[in-house]
Amino acid sequence: MSGNQYPSAVPDKLNTGVAHNARVWNYWVGGKDHYEVDQQVGDQVAAMFPVIRDVARADRDFLGRAVRFLASDRGVRQFLDIGTGLPTLENTHEIAQRIAPESRIVYVDNDPIVLVHARSLLVGAPQGATDYIDADAHRPDSIIERASETLDLDRPVAVMMLGILNFILDTEQALHTVRRIMASVPSGSYLVMTHPTTDTDLGGEGNVEAMKFWNANATPPITARSRSEINAFFEGLDLLPPGLVSCSRWRAASESPVVLPQFGAVAVKP
Ligand SMILES: C[S@@+](CC[C@H](N)C(=O)[O-])C[C@H]1O[C@@H](n2cnc3c(N)ncnc32)[C@H](O)[C@@H]1O
Repeated sequence: MSGNQYPSAVPDKLNTGVAHNARVWNYWVGGKDHYEVDQQVGDQVAAMFPVIRDVARADRDFLGRAVRFLASDRGVRQFLDIGTGLPTLENTHEIAQRIAPESRIVYVDNDPIVLVHARSLLVGAPQGATDYIDADAHRPDSIIERASETLDLDRPVAVMMLGILNFILDTEQALHTVRRIMASVPSGSYLVMTHPTTDTDLGGEGNVEAMKFWNANATPPITARSRSEINAFFEGLDLLPPGLVSCSRWRAASESPVVLPQFGAVAVKP
């Protein structure tokens, strides 16, 4: 372990000998909640694919811009954040509840280390609510059922799937997850997504070897998708400007941030 002290009640299924995505992601975004093995694999991937740290940071920045936009400009008060990751400086509930303290946020992840940290995700504004569900994105029905204990599914929800569908290797299954969840929320709800790509116009060719290395050395296995495959997740929804773009460029403050091989988009359910 390289940074924070973990609580003593570490779940049995936590394997500290194999690199795990949530912990390596935490390493890349500059956090302290990872083990030696995560650092080693993270460094090896970064040696093969140097923009990966920029991707991780740009993805978190996208999350901040998207939540601020939805809470401030669109009045969204409910967020379902699937594939939460380890808590960092600015988590969904902190951003949303700063704008509207009554916001209700449900986090979902299946990594035992995120579960260990869940209590820090549960400290939200007393006027609102935050909940954490230990569940798998391959099983959307159980997510919906449990999220409905905290969220009012008759009112709009921002469904956030950032860097998570890439861990559902089967595209039909990933489409099913998105469609099932979006079908359970009303008109006026949003889908917020980031997804890695191998598309060359975004510099994604480097993902090919890096992902092969990841899949041989770490867990869970990952896949990238093309622009058209990722576009399919938004079928039946209306993409908001600027559409499906490098996540670094989605409603970015500066003129032209560097293009990265991680798509980002926000769409509304008509
Ligand atoms: C790349 S991190 C992204 C974290 C955060 N959404 C972000 O964009 O910064 C992916 C997260 O998805 C979680 N995850 C991976 N596969 C999952 C699955 N099948 N079900 C639920 N969560 C999963 C991992 O544990 C990890 O925390």
